[in-house]
Amino acid sequence: MREKLIVANWKMNKTPLEAEEFMQHFPKEVKGISGIEMVICPPFTSLVQLATLMRDTALMLGAQNMHWEKEGAYTGEISPLMLKEIGVKYVIIGHSERRKYFGENNAIIHKKTTAALNCGLIPILCLGENSEERRSKETEKVLKKQLFGALDEIDLEEEKLCNIVLAYEPVWAIGTGTPASGDEAAEVAGYLRSLLKEKWSALAGNVRILYGGSVNRENISEFTGKKDIDGALVGGSSLKESSFAGLIKAVFNEGRS
Ligand code: 13P
Repeated sequence: MREKLIVANWKMNKTPLEAEEFMQHFPKEVKGISGIEMVICPPFTSLVQLATLMRDTALMLGAQNMHWEKEGAYTGEISPLMLKEIGVKYVIIGHSERRKYFGENNAIIHKKTTAALNCGLIPILCLGENSEERRSKETEKVLKKQLFGALDEIDLEEEKLCNIVLAYEPVWAIGTGTPASGDEAAEVAGYLRSLLKEKWSALAGNVRILYGGSVNRENISEFTGKKDIDGALVGGSSLKESSFAGLIKAVFNEGRS
């Protein structure tokens, strides 16, 4: 059984002080939640402090990006080893904002995914088509290229590879208030799982697939209620303690009803 996974991507929001304020309330709000893995990915400047504040909670720490080398002359970059040492468990790789604003292509994403897995971090690999690609019915083609671009020829046993998490984030749904429908997201999640099955049959059933793009506490169950969707990657709705806790409680209550 795949455990549900809800991930907060704070993007470039919250100073360390604001992050600390969030952590004064949020763990209390989700106390008693079980059976759902809860991850927060703050900016780099709050990682160390959150690692400490999360110590006696069920929360896990994630990073929003990393370099693929372990160390070296890469001014301004952060390595997987540095993340690992401070207690980071997950790392978001290939977010569409990084593809769009920072020129990340499938080759870079491949290197980062491999490096994360090699260093014992769990990559949350983001995939998604833009509105033009959806309109011209190229969604599957784009996703296939992104998925195999990131994972092909990764020199790892399936055992290690099955730790990977996929996040289907259609670009047109991110930050727009217009999410994909549950059925649209489920169709794509099913497609991604079928692609995994083609190449790595043993792994396909274990990989968790998230949906991301304008998810909130009102619509989350549309997604997590689908058989191939195991959780969500949440931007805007993860910034306020009450809205993020509400979203997690909605998933928790689903499991009980
Ligand atoms: P929103 O939830 O703000 O649409 O952002 C989604 C996202 O990009 C998460 O990585």
